Parts: sequence; structure tokens; C-alpha cells
Amino acid sequence: MKIVHTINELRNEIALQRSHNKKIGFVPTMGYLHQGHLSLVHISRKHSDYQVMSIFVNKMQFNDPKDYTTYPRDYERDFALAKDAGVDLIFLPDDTEMYQNRLVYIDIEMMTDHLCGATRPGHFRGVLTVVAKLFNIVQPDVSVFGQKDIQQAVIIQKMVKDLNLPVTIIVAPIIREPDGLAMSSRNVHLKGDDRTNAVVIYKSLQKAEELIHQGEVQSHKLIPAMTDIITSGKPKKIDYVSVVDYETLQPIESLKEKSVIAVAAFFGPTRLIDNMIVEKKGDTYTCIY
Ligand code: PAF
Repeated sequence: MKIVHTINELRNEIALQRSHNKKIGFVPTMGYLHQGHLSLVHISRKHSDYQVMSIFVNKMQFNDPKDYTTYPRDYERDFALAKDAGVDLIFLPDDTEMYQNRLVYIDIEMMTDHLCGATRPGHFRGVLTVVAKLFNIVQPDVSVFGQKDIQQAVIIQKMVKDLNLPVTIIVAPIIREPDGLAMSSRNVHLKGDDRTNAVVIYKSLQKAEELIHQGEVQSHKLIPAMTDIITSGKPKKIDYVSVVDYETLQPIESLKEKSVIAVAAFFGPTRLIDNMIVEKKGDTYTCIY
């Protein structure tokens, strides 16, 4: 596995692989890898021949400076895990390599008004800008994003469509701890009771699935039932429990053809997110989480 730090080195390597007709797969990350990231590489390998992973803690997407400085980093460990998972090339740029003369941004209308976008101003502008830059730098054929960050995955799909970027986006399933907590680099900050209690987020999704299978499709019934369960785990704060349309990410009164039920809550200082996609086929609803 090669590790490169500059755009030039990366482009030379990609050009070499392309000259051998290799299809390029790309998994962008901010490092501190866990099984969730590695599952993205496994999926990427099924759709491409040469695997590129970027590790870049993107300051621009952190609206809380403390969250940026405390974001966990362990590059040596990341290299070992990435190599094991079959990554061929790590792109590890520094801030200067990624951001010079920063005056141009990518932003999106409407789709960041709700969910995480409502409480994290500027976050998705930072995400879209860095992902667009990384797509231009790597020029991958496919790129894989986790369902766990569903708002991110949906707006990246929209950016690719609206800007006609020549890359196929794959949304990969959420990978969970044995008790159901969605894997996240931030879980390392969960201590004691907060870690144990955080499982209520997963339980609230299970409750929603149970209600949906009993025929409940109204947001005003699903949201309070989920909120009760999350409250029982004594979160520091519930940011949102929302039901939105998958395509537009706008709140909906009842489930549509493809909807997202999403949760964000703080356990201690740690903000956790989770969600499920609900698909309707005929009269049957399938919950994917
Ligand atoms: O999901 C992440 O880790 C980041 O938002 C991403 C996509 C690597 C952009 O910095």
C-alpha cells in the first residue's frame, strides 16, 4: 500500500493505474478507522480494481473548533487497518495541500435546512466542498459513503447529479456494535453510562420498525414513540427525531415511497446520529438500518 501526501503524487499514481485500464474506487475518510469504514472499502472492491482512501480531517466542516481539535487521530493504526482491508493507496494531504486561496465553495439549497444541517451551520458546505475537491483530485469511477451519515450521502448524490460529476455513488449499510450502536469514530468519547445508554437510539429505530409493521405511517405517532425511548436513556439533549423524504430531505407527515427516519442526540458531550431508510413497495414497508 502506497501513502502519498501531495496531489501531484496521487495524480501520477492514478494515471499509471488508468493506463492499465484499472477502475478506480474511492473511500474518503477523516481517519480513526473502524469496521464501518472498512466495510466501505470491501464494497468498493466489488465495484472497482484499485482502491484509494483519503484521510483528511477537514477543518472546514467542523462548526465547533473543540470538536475539530479533539477529533481522534491515529494514522499508524489507520494505515494497518486500511492495508488489511485491501486499500492500494492512501492520500494523506495536509491543510496547505488541500486549501490554498480558499474562495470557492460548493453549497446546496434546501436539503440542509433540516436534520444535522439545522444545528451545524456551514457543516455541509465544508463536506461538499472537500468531497468535490477530492473527486476532482482522485477522479474515481465509484465512491462509497455510509448510510449512517444519511444527509451527507443524499446531498453528495444530489451534487453528483446536479454538477454532472462522472462518478457512481454507492450508499453502504450501517455497521453496528454488538448492542446495536452505530459505529462511529466519535464513539471513543462515550464513557460509562453514556456508552451503555446510547443503545436507546438503536432501540428507538427498532420501535419505529415495529410500529410501521403494525401499520403506523404517521410521523406524529412515530416521532413521540421514538422520543420516549431515547429519553429513557437520559441523553444530555435530543437534537432531533425526524421523518423526511429521501429525495428532498424535507419533513413529511406520513411515510412516502422512500423515507428516512433520523435521530441525533447527545450522550454526555458526544453527539450521535443514526437512521433508517424506509422503502414502500406495494403495501409493504421495508426498514433498512
Ligand atoms: O464522512 C466523513 O468522514 C467526512 O464527512 C468526509 C466524507 C470524509 C468528508 O470530509
